[in-house]
Amino acid sequence: KKVVLAYSGGLDTSVILKWLIETYHCEVVTLTADLGQEEELDGLEAKALKTGAVKAYVEDLREEFIRDYVFPAFRANAIYEGQYLLGTSIARPLIAKRQIEIAAAEGADAVSHGATGKGNDQVRFELGYFAMNPAIKIIAPWRDWDLTSRTRLMQFAKEHNIPVPQTPSKPYSTDRNMLHISYEGGVLEDPWAQATDDMYTMSVKPEDAPDKAEIIEIDFKNGNPVAINGRPMSPATLFKELNTLGGRNGIGRIDLVENRFVGMKSRGVYETPGGTILRLAHLNMESITLDREVAHLRDSLIPKYAELVYNGFWFSPEMALLQKMVDETQTCVSGTVRLKLYKGNCYVLGRRSDQSLYDESFATFEDDNVYAQKDAEGFIRLNALRLRIRKIANDRRKV
Ligand code: ARG
Ligand code: SIN
Repeated sequence: KKVVLAYSGGLDTSVILKWLIETYHCEVVTLTADLGQEEELDGLEAKALKTGAVKAYVEDLREEFIRDYVFPAFRANAIYEGQYLLGTSIARPLIAKRQIEIAAAEGADAVSHGATGKGNDQVRFELGYFAMNPAIKIIAPWRDWDLTSRTRLMQFAKEHNIPVPQTPSKPYSTDRNMLHISYEGGVLEDPWAQATDDMYTMSVKPEDAPDKAEIIEIDFKNGNPVAINGRPMSPATLFKELNTLGGRNGIGRIDLVENRFVGMKSRGVYETPGGTILRLAHLNMESITLDREVAHLRDSLIPKYAELVYNGFWFSPEMALLQKMVDETQTCVSGTVRLKLYKGNCYVLGRRSDQSLYDESFATFEDDNVYAQKDAEGFIRLNALRLRIRKIANDRRKV
């Protein structure tokens, strides 16, 4: 028996690594996916091996993450419950996919992860596993073991010589990748309790951002950002640059209460500096390039798209269908958006495209010879027909 474990190198997954070996007398292969969590990855392979792994994969998946997971979601303008840009949700399927690929390569029959039995992440990991390997065995220690308190976990770590981090643990739980950092649990569980300034990591406080606005231009091709200020960049490089720009201008902090798939409400605080800029820029690129009805039809499907990502159905036929539809709309979404970043806000200053549908000769308030104002009279009268008939019928009934 062999297990592929999603391993961060932190206390929880180190304990899980040891616990798997003790409980199942199995071999454990670890996967540490670098999605931009900016943690020290040096030494992680050695650490995993020292804790008992037979093999430790440490993989830089940042380009794949941004290109094949983040950008597709931003082409769709995906947003959950009007506020959450899905930073954690979109990362889980990629980790799940790599675990299953490694399981196949290593001849492993099981996979394992460190998500709790109360959250969304367990669902995302495991729907991903099953979609890629219907016969895979799944071990979710948090749902099975008796290390249910912090104290018991620490005790287990001590007994097994697992190094316990010296820095005092943070009073909340975080998840970081290139798209965002999430903070939830602990002191944040009270939805009225304000997050303290020292919690934030990717962005400065808007009050502390420079007094001078920063102006940037983002070029798009087929709905994807391809250059900043005229400099072409790879997906991950570009996204990193957006994070730097957004972070130093205090952009992308939000505080919300969301509905978890398993049923409870959960309070979360998020920093998504680059994503917040990208979403606004993309919406504005579309505003001049997309047909109205195409845009509105697509918009009507985005709550569903976001729900699928949030609930973990990334590798599902309905998701593939929606993505195809979204991508079909994006073939003309190319051009440039100009933005101003200033103290926590992002403003659009202008947009242009070779494929623009915007036509000044139609929109102008000045005299024109392409649009006959008289035509609007019949347009309005016919649109009003139902409303007039209804009013007449209602009035007749009343007398
Ligand atoms: N609530 C967010 C989501 O469901 C963030 C989850 C954070 N996960 C974590 N293991 N800390 O997408
Ligand atoms: C967890 O429960 O492991 C984190 C929170 C979540 O998945 O929603």
